Amino acid sequence: LTHLLTLEGLPKEQILHILDTAQQFVSVTDPAREVKKVPLLRGKSVFNLFFENSTRTRTTFEIAAKRLSADVINLDISTSSTAKGESLLDTIDNLVAMQADIFVVRHSISRAPIQIAQHIPAHVHVINAGDGSHQHPTQGLLDMYTMRHFKKDFSSLKVAIVGDILHSRVAKSNICALRTLGCKDIRAIGPESLLPSDLDMLGIKIFHSMEEGLKGVDVVMTLRIQKERMEAGQVPEGDEFFKQYGLTPTRLALAKSDAIVMHPGPMNRGVEIDSAVADGTQSVILNQVTFGIAVRMAVMSIVAGN
Ligand code: CP
Repeated sequence: LTHLLTLEGLPKEQILHILDTAQQFVSVTDPAREVKKVPLLRGKSVFNLFFENSTRTRTTFEIAAKRLSADVINLDISTSSTAKGESLLDTIDNLVAMQADIFVVRHSISRAPIQIAQHIPAHVHVINAGDGSHQHPTQGLLDMYTMRHFKKDFSSLKVAIVGDILHSRVAKSNICALRTLGCKDIRAIGPESLLPSDLDMLGIKIFHSMEEGLKGVDVVMTLRIQKERMEAGQVPEGDEFFKQYGLTPTRLALAKSDAIVMHPGPMNRGVEIDSAVADGTQSVILNQVTFGIAVRMAVMSIVAGN
């Protein structure tokens, strides 16, 4: 694996290799914590290039790179020469000239990381940290890690993904990975306006009612409404959306009693999820964040050839 740009087409063996590698980076006595430090990326430079805001992804990539003993450079895009009109690829050329080894790229333009990967020399690696509405592969992988941690077997899992799937790169990456790992019951729940038109072809079951879609599921993944990717008039009215698609304790009770609740963050409480669910006993939302460190350690060490 030279780059990680998408989970579409990534073979099952490769996904499992990443998850198994991530597991090696967690403490045997406390699987919720990663090993403190390993020398796998000593002497390598990881450049975090976040052209779009981030809390979880940017920070956990930085922690992960430091745990691998890499040098980490966080380019502050708001004070960079991007503001003076420098093109994306000119910026990249200059960072390659500074001996970059790995670029971690988030961009509002779908496929921008692919464009970078096609442009740079072969010894430099690109990891997509979320591009437009296209893909968020490390989020998809950490979500698979979380599901495997709590539920073990993908083939018997029933997974409901709720909300703005149309604009969600997280949902797209999750759907790719779940299908590859053999999940046979993937459900999309939301209004027609927020569901992509090709879900049928992918074998995803479509529901426009939470009461129908949540029945008997093992995993409920709620998503933020991606207002920044919508045109004027497309944004659902907050109250209306919550009334129909908000994940409340009453609705969660329709899922299996041991179902887990996931959310990639950032959450909008009272819009897609009730605080009682977000902070409830079935929520694994903060576990997802923690697992992201080991998963990103695995991805960086694998693309760098370890
Ligand atoms: N899940 C996720 O991508 O969160 P951030 O936008 O905070 O990185």
